Amino acid sequence: MTDLKAELLDVALEAAARAGVFLRDGRPADLGVAATKTSAVDVVTEMDIASEKLITDFLAERRPDDGVLGEEGAATEGTSGVEWVIDPIDGTVNYLYGRPEWSVSIAARKDGETLVGVVAAPMRGETYRAVLGGGAFVNDEPVRVRPAPPFEQALVGTGFGYLAQRRAHQAEVVRELVPSVRDIRRGGSAAIDLCDVALGRLDAYYERGLNPWDFAAGDLIAREAGARTGGRPGDALSGELTVAAPPGLFEALQNRLEELGAWHD
Ligand code: IPD
Repeated sequence: MTDLKAELLDVALEAAARAGVFLRDGRPADLGVAATKTSAVDVVTEMDIASEKLITDFLAERRPDDGVLGEEGAATEGTSGVEWVIDPIDGTVNYLYGRPEWSVSIAARKDGETLVGVVAAPMRGETYRAVLGGGAFVNDEPVRVRPAPPFEQALVGTGFGYLAQRRAHQAEVVRELVPSVRDIRRGGSAAIDLCDVALGRLDAYYERGLNPWDFAAGDLIAREAGARTGGRPGDALSGELTVAAPPGLFEALQNRLEELGAWHD
């Protein structure tokens, strides 16, 4: 591992651990919605804002020349060429309701490539991590995707956006898929869903409309565990469509999603 990757991993692990403990131990019993974003159900809590501040303050101390892109508005350019992509709580609705499936997602990118990804899932007692070319790990154990099952035996994770029109179309896609796969799961944290593909707890995952902070770290972790990730056939993974699965199943799911027009609203 290069010195840069090792340093970025160390910083990402420390930042995610600090934010994870803060969120797990400091969740107010009367936590409410501080603001809404793209729709009335797209919420921000005071803890999303405080977690992003904790992480960006830590990064500013440890890597002052890096850029930052955070879900709750952090945006600095930096001069080092390294950019941090942060979701201070991925799965905010789960966190708001006291459900355990939420995470802190932190990735470091350079020259358009993700070098390091860390996803901390404190309520699971697990942290997932990967360094480009270095494999993927849960805590300190290496992880590997589950071998691809036939399409009709796949357990497929997905998620829904916050806009009603998009959700209506996403529901149509799910309606078509459910009868032809083992089952569908909607966990509520895209970062955890991608890590669950890496861990073999899901066979596959797809979602339309994610943002870089939702997928940057989980995408690298899934790939380093042996998954293929991408968007529409021939396209890289993006906000348009995010697909992750082991080779074989990946292409089958990608083609089926293309037939179903899963990339549009
Ligand atoms: C959301 C979660 C959810 C996914 C949504 C995301 P947030 O992120 O990852 O699983 O379905 O599309 O926006 O808002 O909790 O950070």
